[in-house]
Parts: sequence; structure tokens; C-alpha cells
Amino acid sequence: MLSNPIRPLAPEPEAALDPDAMRQPLANAWYCVGRSESFSPKNLRAVELDGEQLVMGRDASGDFFALRDRCPHRGMALSKGRYDDGGLTCPFHGWRFGTDGRCRDVPTLSASDAADFSKIAIQRFPVRESAGFAWVNVHLGPQDGVDVPALPDLGFKAAGRVVVELVVEASFDLTTLSLVDPGHVAFVHDSWWFRPSKTLCEKVKTFSPTPHGFTMTSHGTATSSPVYRLLGGAPEVEIEFRLPGSRLERIEAGAKRLANYTFATPLGRNRTMLTNALYWNVPALNLLKPVARVLMRQFLTQDQQVLQYAQAGLDRKPTMVLFGQGDLPSQWYFRLKREALAAQAEGRDFRNPLLRQELRWRS
Ligand code: FES
Ligand SMILES: [Fe+2]
Repeated sequence: MLSNPIRPLAPEPEAALDPDAMRQPLANAWYCVGRSESFSPKNLRAVELDGEQLVMGRDASGDFFALRDRCPHRGMALSKGRYDDGGLTCPFHGWRFGTDGRCRDVPTLSASDAADFSKIAIQRFPVRESAGFAWVNVHLGPQDGVDVPALPDLGFKAAGRVVVELVVEASFDLTTLSLVDPGHVAFVHDSWWFRPSKTLCEKVKTFSPTPHGFTMTSHGTATSSPVYRLLGGAPEVEIEFRLPGSRLERIEAGAKRLANYTFATPLGRNRTMLTNALYWNVPALNLLKPVARVLMRQFLTQDQQVLQYAQAGLDRKPTMVLFGQGDLPSQWYFRLKREALAAQAEGRDFRNPLLRQELRWRS
């Protein structure tokens, strides 16, 4: 735990943000591309990530692979082909590729043809697995020795999990800001089951820097939500934001654990996937899966709708006024991202520019 003292609130300038910086997701980072079990050795899957089209799958030993979804011959989508015998076959002229991206066979070549296909290859991207999801980094620059944000992991053995995925027609930054924006909750997420009280109350929370983000901690105070009450007792809630776009909410009540994770994934320009995963270690909660799925989808849809309207407004004029303490976490997001870009450009470790700080807002 960081023990630097709480600093008095320094006034930060209202930010009029550079529209180009607004739209670029952090290039060298891991992004969630889907539930682990949605990839199998039987099927190839087309995956969109930060403007890149990928073909993904698993080999016979269950290891993931991710290749650019483009046959070098005539540009055919390899995801429309098939995977067998350890390789991918392009459906256009049958070229074969290994999961390392190397061309293994051009079946239409005559034995008398001297052409050498061993130099032909498709770009391969690294894949990791964590918290029951596959993660891909499509950055093509240097990767060794670069300090990239750690993958979200779970920290306990889940007895059950519910996942909801939703595509938002909004930029990655605008969507990610909704993960750190306390001001919208009372207006957007005002469902009875989430926020039974309709009055705005003063909130005071302490924020601390973490390796690539910040956490908000509350000790036994968050009893207002019925979701928290499900666990019984007075839960301890910690919410971490971590670059590039993860909100990791961890709830503990005695030995009971609940984790509510949300990941933002850039698909293309103004298209972002929101993935919300709820995990628990209490087997009895498995009975609530169908209800949890409906409520989580409702919650995510509430974000989706306002974000899409806001994106239309930003398309007409791409500036924001970040105002008051409730908007400081949004400003921190941009500061963290700028620092990550600077650290990567200078080839040094990330230095978190944030300080431990108390914030007040009404919610
Ligand atoms: S386009 Fe793939 S083999 Fe021709
Ligand atoms: Fe939200």
C-alpha cells in the first residue's frame, strides 16, 4: 500500500482536449478480445482490434494464436478458411499457413516451378490468457523491456461467472472515461436495483496511485446497493482503474469474494467493445446467473445509449470541459495515458504522475 500523505487538492486546469489524442487507444497494451472458451481448435474466429483484422483460434494443444486476417496472395480473409492438421488453409487458392504465420504450402505450384514460398509469412500477434479471457497486443514496435500494464487477473477461484459483451459506437477514450466517471451514475444507472435512493448525497473517497492506474477504496461504507448486500455483512470494496481500459471492482466480505470487471476494447474508429464479467466464489450465487445476466446487460446498455449520443455531440465538436472533483478521475485517465506514451517513446519505465488524494462529489 502506498503511504504518501493526502495532498490538498491542487486546482487542475479545465481540459480542452486535443481531438487527435482523444481518439487513439494506447498502442502497446493488452486488450480483451473475448472469453477463453469462445476460441477452439475447431473454429477460426475473425477478431477486430484497434483497426486490425485478426484471425484467431487454438492449436491442438489448446494454445492461442492470432494472425493478421489477410492472405498475402490476394488478401482473402483467412478466417473464412479452415484450421486442420496444425495449419490454416486459405479458401481462395488453398495456400497453407502454420500458426506461426509461415507459408507451408502453395498446392497449385507445379513440381517444375522454382518459386520459393518459405519467405512468405503473415504477421503474428502475441496472445495471453487471464481471468478467463484472451488478450492480444497488436503493437508492432519493440516489446522487450517495455513496461506495459499487467493483465487483470482474478486472485481467487471463481465458483461462477457471468459475462456480458456490448459494442458501443463511440471512441475508445469516451467509452473508457465512463469507467472512471462517478458523475454519470446517478443519472444513467438509476435502476431501482442498483440505486434505490433518488437523492444526491455527498461522497468522499480516497484515491491512490497503482502501478498503471489508481484505486478507490472504501471500508464497510458501501452498503447502499442491493448488489453489495447480497454478500451480507459490511463488504470492503476496492475499485481499480488500470490502463489501457480496465475497471476492476473487488468486493470482499469475510471469505466471500465478488469481482466485477469491465474491460474496454478498441475495435475501430468510434467502435468500442465493453465486456462486463462478474465472478464469485460462493456456489449458491450460481442460482442468480440468469437474473445477473439480465441486470448486467441493462446496466451496460444504459452506458451504451448515452455514450452513443455523446459521441455524436463530440463528432460535431470534439472538445470536453472536465470540471470539478468528480471529473478529476477523467483527467487522470488522460495524464496516465500521456505518461504511458512518453515512457514508451523514451524507452523507460512508467512513472505514475498521480498522488494519493481525497475527492468529493455528489452522487
Ligand atoms: S488469396 Fe489466399 S490463396 Fe489466394
Ligand atoms: Fe456507467
